[in-house]
Amino acid sequence: MKGMAERTDRIPLIVDVDTGIDDSVALLYLLARDDADVVAVLSTAGNVPTAQVAANNLAWLELCGRTDVEVAVGADGPLSTPLRTTEDTHGPQGVGYAVLPEPRLRPSERSAAEAWVALTRERPGELVGLVTGPLTNLALAIRLDPELPHRLRGLVVMGGAFDYPGNTTPVAEWNISVDPEAAAEVFAAFSDVPHERSPIVCGLNLTERIILTPEHVRRFAELAGSTPTESISADDRPGTRSTASNRVVRHVSDAVRFYFEFHRDHAQGFIAHLHDPFAAAVALDSTIARYRSATVDVETDGRITRGQTVADWHGLWGRSSNAQIAWETDEKAFLDDLITRLAGLARRIERQS
Ligand code: RIB
Ligand code: CA
Repeated sequence: MKGMAERTDRIPLIVDVDTGIDDSVALLYLLARDDADVVAVLSTAGNVPTAQVAANNLAWLELCGRTDVEVAVGADGPLSTPLRTTEDTHGPQGVGYAVLPEPRLRPSERSAAEAWVALTRERPGELVGLVTGPLTNLALAIRLDPELPHRLRGLVVMGGAFDYPGNTTPVAEWNISVDPEAAAEVFAAFSDVPHERSPIVCGLNLTERIILTPEHVRRFAELAGSTPTESISADDRPGTRSTASNRVVRHVSDAVRFYFEFHRDHAQGFIAHLHDPFAAAVALDSTIARYRSATVDVETDGRITRGQTVADWHGLWGRSSNAQIAWETDEKAFLDDLITRLAGLARRIERQS
């Protein structure tokens, strides 16, 4: 995708999420970006069940006045294994402590997989896919229409861990771990697209360096003109709710506080890894990171390695490369951009209310 510097066009996106806390921030970030045209938000089971993911998507979109965006519901679970969810990470509804207004709109009639197929057929070569959850629905779409990879302008996936520990098992990252078969099918399906349109994969090796802190939230609220000062402390009673005057600030603060507590309770500090917002930024402007090409495959049978993403950096398998693995970025520049954009969105929504 072209660098933002010369951006004149908007990037039309299919966004496939398992809305959770960082998916929520990613969605708001996209809605805050003038160069993002969110065409559809597809709901995949992962952090929470599909129906809850869809409800979260509808609620965030309605909060931001974007009732024009299609929300579709995906499969109830992985291709061939029982669904595991992670409410302990993202909260009972998947949005931390946030209590979002009940959405009035309903999801579209068609499934997430049907939406993938229809949209890429209607707009061949135009749409960028962004997947920040398990790859179940993209895999189902490719089963329906094997030519789909060739009709995407690009694909960015938040998932995997490359030469880096997993966060769900010692070697597997959550999105891949929920549905390894789907991930394996998707990576295989992209093995013969032109290299410059190989999927960009943002794995934990990079996304765990995107570290949100309470100071970022304070600055976000300040830039949004919200009062009082939004201070989240590790010493607060767990579950303390925000009193921010700005409702986007309030809901985001309530959501990420849960994430801060989760990371602290898992010895990672009172911080939050913003995996999905970073992948969203890459989908809009791939020049913000640097990449290494590899052939990626996914372990599906390993007794202790199931869900591991394996990168063949040196062509030892004799297979063409099918991925551009995000390897470096300017973390501070991304976080500054995120906070600024979110604050602009929060101000805009407040003015419109
Ligand atoms: O491993 C991190 C990923 O899993 C993120 O997308 C998070 O939202 C969860 O889906
Ligand atoms: Ca996610």
